[in-house]
Amino acid sequence: MEKIYNTPSRIIAPSELIINADGSIFHLHLRPEQLADTVILVGDPARVEMIVKYLDNVEHRASSREFNSATGYYKGKRMTILSTGIGIGNIDIAMTELDALANIDFATRTVKQELRQLTILRLGTSGALQPDIEVGDVVFARTSVGFDGLLSYYAGRNDVCDLELEQAFVEHTEWDSLMPRPYFVDASQELWELFRNAAIEGITIASPGFYAPQGRWVRLKPADEQMNAKIEAFRYGSRRITNYEMEGSAIAGLAALMGHRAATMCTIIAQRVNKNANTDYKPFVERMIQLALDRLATMQ
Ligand code: URA
Repeated sequence: MEKIYNTPSRIIAPSELIINADGSIFHLHLRPEQLADTVILVGDPARVEMIVKYLDNVEHRASSREFNSATGYYKGKRMTILSTGIGIGNIDIAMTELDALANIDFATRTVKQELRQLTILRLGTSGALQPDIEVGDVVFARTSVGFDGLLSYYAGRNDVCDLELEQAFVEHTEWDSLMPRPYFVDASQELWELFRNAAIEGITIASPGFYAPQGRWVRLKPADEQMNAKIEAFRYGSRRITNYEMEGSAIAGLAALMGHRAATMCTIIAQRVNKNANTDYKPFVERMIQLALDRLATMQ
């Protein structure tokens, strides 16, 4: 993997890594010293405030488009909270810029000799794909599945993917070759150990859309009306696919390529099999936030 990203002699051109006049990175508007080693990602910019209220000594805040951030301390642990908005495109930006803040020397525009490892946990909301998973449950994506295709744009994609699981899924669903090939990446084992007794084990799909890409039919019919039924029926040994969200695959995949520890954990807000949803899910998300903060604070 070394050859993919650790090339200290290469100078990264100003057009490839854009640094603002104040020394901050292009989209996130953060400078390297403003990033903590532990990062919590949320989709909704307003959700940053739900987490910030638990922090002490908030030392820095930034806001640009959907990227709202704060760095402070929880029980003595320095953490950065960052919103990414919705979707995989924003994750490509957030993960690349977080890694650049940690591992690129902005003065020389080269990769640092000594790489810094970040711990990145996304807290999201999600739709359940199995009948026994209920609204309010928390699912930890032990494996994330990308329906989005992003990871295939990066060299080394196959080095971090579970190719046997991918093949079994492609065969089971009779995957349409017009769609990006799904990719399966495991979460950090250490993060899984941290949360395994507090969440349902999941294989979580990250989809490039909320409607037809998750099998929803409003006015336009999904290309494969049976997709969710096929997903629900899929088994890989004793494992099954549990839920849909829209960001986790690229977080897991890029973190694996970059050498960071990452995972996605979601509160279920829609039950896709039983066809119900709860828009009053804030108390459940609050509970997940408290769980995440308490456990991350104990992590080495
Ligand atoms: N987020 C998703 O991506 N899908 C859902 O069904 C609910 C939340």
